[in-house]
Amino acid sequence: MAKALSEILADDVRAALTAVLGDAARDADPLIRPSDHADFQANGVLPLAKAVKGNPRELATRVAAVLAPADTAAAASDADGADGPATVSTSGVIAAVEVAGPGFLNLTLTDAALAAQTAERLGDPRLGVAPTAVGQTTVIDYSQPNIAKEMHVGHLRSTVIGDALVRLLEFDGRTVVRQNHLGDWGTQFGMLIQFLVEHPEARPAGAEHSGEVAISWLTALYRDARAHFESDAEFADRARKRVVTLQGGDEESLAAWREMVAESKRYFEDVYARLDVRLIDADAVGESFYNPYLAEVAADLEERGIAVWSEGALCVFFDDIKGPDGDPVPLMVRKSDGGFGYAATDLAAVRYRVNTLKADQILYVVDSRQALHFRMVFETARRAGYLPEGVEAVHVQFGSVLGTDGKPFKTRAGKTVRLIELLDNAVDHAVATVEEKNPDLSAADVRAEAKVVGIGAVKYADLSTSRTKDYIFDLDRMVSLHGNTSVYLQYAHARIHSILRKLPAGTPTQVHPELALEPAERRLALHLDDLGATLATVTENFEPHRLASYLYSLAQTFSDFYENCPVVKAPTDAVRENRAALVRLTGDTLKLGLALLGISAPDQL
Ligand code: ARG
Repeated sequence: MAKALSEILADDVRAALTAVLGDAARDADPLIRPSDHADFQANGVLPLAKAVKGNPRELATRVAAVLAPADTAAAASDADGADGPATVSTSGVIAAVEVAGPGFLNLTLTDAALAAQTAERLGDPRLGVAPTAVGQTTVIDYSQPNIAKEMHVGHLRSTVIGDALVRLLEFDGRTVVRQNHLGDWGTQFGMLIQFLVEHPEARPAGAEHSGEVAISWLTALYRDARAHFESDAEFADRARKRVVTLQGGDEESLAAWREMVAESKRYFEDVYARLDVRLIDADAVGESFYNPYLAEVAADLEERGIAVWSEGALCVFFDDIKGPDGDPVPLMVRKSDGGFGYAATDLAAVRYRVNTLKADQILYVVDSRQALHFRMVFETARRAGYLPEGVEAVHVQFGSVLGTDGKPFKTRAGKTVRLIELLDNAVDHAVATVEEKNPDLSAADVRAEAKVVGIGAVKYADLSTSRTKDYIFDLDRMVSLHGNTSVYLQYAHARIHSILRKLPAGTPTQVHPELALEPAERRLALHLDDLGATLATVTENFEPHRLASYLYSLAQTFSDFYENCPVVKAPTDAVRENRAALVRLTGDTLKLGLALLGISAPDQL
């Protein structure tokens, strides 16, 4: 695994600081940052000088002398041994050090160091990025659609963000347990089951129908059942009784419930397949799974005084959580009618995820409107010890999807947009982009490529904006060839492969460490070297958009390189081979980065 240059520099600068200052610097952060004046700068001298009450510029000068003795060799040889720069073994990646401003160090790397990084990454399927979380287990709760209902754009966001996080965390070496917390329980099932029992003819014909047929059947069932429930008091009464028989385990009721779950899953699976996300049936652990544990959780919280009865309901209160009227807002564990709700299920789920699934990190990819709910659930679970200290629980929240008018995303008629239709639209939109780029393609190929481009565009638009922000669903912008879009990245990747195909037959992609590099080559090599650090921040803060920005600026850096440094027509074989290595590593980095976001990048588009 390749250590990034920024890390190598951090070690070198820390060693030099320690050589000059002794123990005071041993654990200091040298604060290596990108620089406009050199390859990197180290800002860590200033705070250290302050700590030891020294002059920062003087300290910086002494550190520089240790880091690049060659620069200061003449000066050093004049002085006697005691005043000369301390010796310290460094990595040798530094070509020049310059003291700037009040005490910054501008660091320039050798071309050979850049070449060595490129060579090491290119030969490795992980591109030199080491996994950092082997042996740790993340349970991730995402997608979470509701049975007998259409998925909406909120579920789309949860699915897309969750899927990217699964891929990113697995790449980091974690064991990731996917949990699709389906909304498969609740009083509405009484009404649905009762209607289905009374109207058996309302089922779709044949066993082999599509997810789309399944969901339109369920939607109609929901609509009709609700209409009856509202207009027919006797039906409403039978529906309420049905809730009780269902909860009592009545076989007829359960069979109807199972049928609805199965039909819904048929639809969800279609959506997941179209989106190319990794959720499978085994990941579906719906709310109903926790039914057997709810009474136990409520009793436990009650016995230990964590939950108390208030106005007929079993509640948990928090000192710092109050409504607009100043009254405390409780988490309701058991409702006044004796039933358990959403909160009880989530508390039971925490226990299961910690005790049985052995999570040391639990992520909930759910929209930000549920922030208060999760705050209360986590706090309660901490008090009860269901969530021990070593286990992290995070509400990975996200904003809303808006229409181009800036209002919540709806159809022109003001209805919620059907997810399948939305994906169809994205693919239709992508057709024009694909045709524009490649007018000679057959209709079938256009269709196939439009699928890759259109689905990628929907995912990337979501993942490239900071997740806590709302984003505007604008298909024209999403499938544009210009700007920060997946299409731009997919074409950049395909173009790289077409460059590689144009190389004279048998050209090896081989690094030549003795070559002097052009500035554009250096910039590209440096950017490529930053993949690991980027992924580290992405997985630490669950922010896929930082990977998206990294890839976008990689593609731009590559464009600049390609304009300035001919590859096929390079001046010598060695330069051509060396540049081919940079081209290939850029392609591999784009492909891996997009794959970690759940987006495919074909070699040819
Ligand atoms: N099914 C819920 C909804 O559609 C989201 C569930 C979120 N996950 C959870 N563990 N509460 O809003």
